[in-house]
Amino acid sequence: MERIVCILIGYVFGLFQTGYIYGRLQHVDIRKMGSGNAGSTNALRTLGVKAGACTFLGDSFKCIFAVLAVRLIFGETHGDILPLLSIYAGMGAVLGHNFPFYLKFKGGKGIAAMAGLLAALTNVWICLIAIVVFVTIVAVTKYVSVGSIAVVLIFFAGVVFRGQTGSYGMAAPYLHEMYVVAAFLAVLAIWKHRANIQRLLSGTENKISIGKKK
Ligand code: G3P
Repeated sequence: MERIVCILIGYVFGLFQTGYIYGRLQHVDIRKMGSGNAGSTNALRTLGVKAGACTFLGDSFKCIFAVLAVRLIFGETHGDILPLLSIYAGMGAVLGHNFPFYLKFKGGKGIAAMAGLLAALTNVWICLIAIVVFVTIVAVTKYVSVGSIAVVLIFFAGVVFRGQTGSYGMAAPYLHEMYVVAAFLAVLAIWKHRANIQRLLSGTENKISIGKKK
């Protein structure tokens, strides 16, 4: 039951669509511009650096806030499985971001939210690895989507690594459940990138760009 409550709490936080709201304040629908995605890459591409940065920060912090809320609510009663409940909160935030009911379930791809979850569930070294890998891939290929998929894989590996090295202090069944949720999130993020993957294979993927493209 508490798992469902955590997912619902996360979902509510995930509904805060930073890129969409930022666009609406400028009287545009970001989902009808550029790649049509309501995420930070498309905000950067269509509305500029400030929009991209605000969208990334807003979308990643909403996931961190969801995890913090769950830790506050369940810290006393479920201290032994808090990491597991935290990933359920993150999963809810990603679902709320990707499938917001009030936007006919058309949101983003969940990468900034997953970056927030990476920060909440791993450590500074794993986050640094993710940042360096992401920046290197994007600098070399100019494809944000490739960097995003790499970060998603680092997220899954990071959760398993932390679990296997005892950082979460949970019993094996809970750890394995956490890995399944992490794997689900990774697969969901890759599935959300299916159009990007098709464009990559056909050589038509959008390269990173900054500015106003309607
Ligand atoms: O985080 C989303 C990014 O990987 C791809 O965004 O707008 O190019 O589909 P976009």
